Amino acid sequence: MTTILSVKNLTKQYGAFTAVAGVSFSLAAGRTLAILGPNGAGKSTTLKMIYATTPITNGTVQINSIDVQRQPRAAKQAIGVVMQDDLLATTLTVMENMIAHGILFDIPLRQVKERAHSLLAFVGLTNYENADTTNLSGGMRRRLVLARALINKPRLIILDEPTTGLDIQSRHVFWHQLNVLKQQGVAILLTSHYVDEIEALADNVAIIDHGQIVAAGSTTTLAQQLAAPSLEAAYLRVTHFDERSEQIDQTRHQ
Ligand SMILES: Nc1ncnc2c1ncn2[C@@H]1O[C@H](COP(=O)(O)OP(=O)(O)OP(=O)(O)O)[C@@H](O)[C@H]1O
Ligand SMILES: [Mg+2]
Repeated sequence: MTTILSVKNLTKQYGAFTAVAGVSFSLAAGRTLAILGPNGAGKSTTLKMIYATTPITNGTVQINSIDVQRQPRAAKQAIGVVMQDDLLATTLTVMENMIAHGILFDIPLRQVKERAHSLLAFVGLTNYENADTTNLSGGMRRRLVLARALINKPRLIILDEPTTGLDIQSRHVFWHQLNVLKQQGVAILLTSHYVDEIEALADNVAIIDHGQIVAAGSTTTLAQQLAAPSLEAAYLRVTHFDERSEQIDQTRHQ
């Protein structure tokens, strides 16, 4: 299988604080890897280093064998990103948002428009092309962000908590769209706080805590390997939930 993403010993220091401490993994075409971890574990920071929006302190990231630090622009051509916040231009319409994003990738305008039409159809927003972005519901905005992330035909899609705040139907629609992309051979890297989402989408899961991978493996077998009854139970154990809840208890009683 073709390796699309290779991350080696990735490290991020903010001054004296280590947010990401030597993370390594790889991801092949058509596969999905989910990163699961408590708030502040270093998930978003890891993703931001991979899509070259925050400098890497140490380690390497290669996308399609292109080094992200040496050739960030070339690497970004192969990536689509759905960030934790929407960051849509609310003064633009749905179609204008698509066009503005396509222009960033130097795609000729006619081609951008053609692609935008078909991508908006893919995410079910055909009837909203001329709608103001501010008038979209939360679910529609997420679908627009996904459509926008696909404008450059990425080989790798990076999604940071893509379905947080979405209703149950919208989540299922979103999952369906991601599964279609996966079948087309797109590699998907995502973070999520929802174990059901990870089980629905991912082949592999990496559990990260305090900037380090504390467990990793197949979504279907990791729990078994750790002799836990479920992925959620395995997660709570490797992230030392018991000790943390004791600490919370102690603070409450102070
Ligand atoms: N620009 C920054 N300057 C200093 N510290 C930062 C900065 N960005 C993030 N951090 C710190 O790095 C750590 C990891 O943050 P990060 O956003 O990667 O967490 P996360 O795993 O994505 O959490 P969440 O689940 O809440 O989204 C946190 O302790 C955070 O406070
Ligand atoms: Mg985050």
